[in-house]
Amino acid sequence: TPVNQITAKPVPTLPDAQTVTSVKHWSDRLFSFRVTRPASLRFRSGEFVMIGLMGEAHPETGKQKPLLRAYSIASPAWDDELEFYSVKVQDGPLTSRLQHIKAGDELILRPKPVGTLVHDALLPGKRLWFFATGTGFAPFASLLREPETYEKFEEVVITHTVRDVAELAYGRELIENLQSDDLMQELIGAENLAKIRYYPTTTREQSPKMGRITNLLEVGSVFADLGIPPITPETDRAMVCGSLDFNKDITKVLEGFGLEEGANSDPKTFVVEKAFVG
Ligand code: A2P
Repeated sequence: TPVNQITAKPVPTLPDAQTVTSVKHWSDRLFSFRVTRPASLRFRSGEFVMIGLMGEAHPETGKQKPLLRAYSIASPAWDDELEFYSVKVQDGPLTSRLQHIKAGDELILRPKPVGTLVHDALLPGKRLWFFATGTGFAPFASLLREPETYEKFEEVVITHTVRDVAELAYGRELIENLQSDDLMQELIGAENLAKIRYYPTTTREQSPKMGRITNLLEVGSVFADLGIPPITPETDRAMVCGSLDFNKDITKVLEGFGLEEGANSDPKTFVVEKAFVG
């Protein structure tokens, strides 16, 4: 018997393991990756799952526990693979390690999708707003590729507020690809893709549109820039995904326009979810 067959310890297989198929680094703070999709996984575009890696071994018992975080699925429900968009936090327990994953590596994915950024949680309307900051763009990357979004709304406004121009790249490229991709044209239709209005803003680096979206809504420049009337509960619906502070502040702004926060069990005129932040 070869020596290594006697001495080698069994390689632990991860519970709920999926295989990474590709990784793309967008900046020193951001990356996205795609993984295989469990055959049994059904989800609604906009939902999130828990993903992660095996934690370090316990110093005394040697036992390992999974280290998991909530991640919005950035790919649409019809996609064969799952896509995720993440920050890299240098001392973050998970992302300090996750940022080094490569195609062929395994990660843990609990196949239990949940979340409030789903079409079922909104009443019908004419114009759908997606308000994202930072990696809060992820659930909208899913919903922008979801045909139901365009079946239900005449216009889709996606706003993305980030610190600097580099942090817009993932979202901007996704929207540009949507407009030029043959599969998307076929699945969603050119006339539906033409419903998308993209409104990126930066707060810490010069760009064509600067400022926090909350302020731009309050002073009305968003409406002037897009040539649309101010938000009203009669026509407008919104989904929000950003930091806790952002969610709190934009909730006040949207309530000021007369919108009301809903949930899966109680659909109303806007819904909110916290972005994964490290
Ligand atoms: P700012 O640069 O003025 O803080 P972060 O990278 O910290 O998650 O922030 C992402 C983007 O969200 C930044 O442009 C930031 O603007 C903006 N932001 C953070 N907090 C709020 C808030 N409470 N309301 C509106 N925008 C916010």
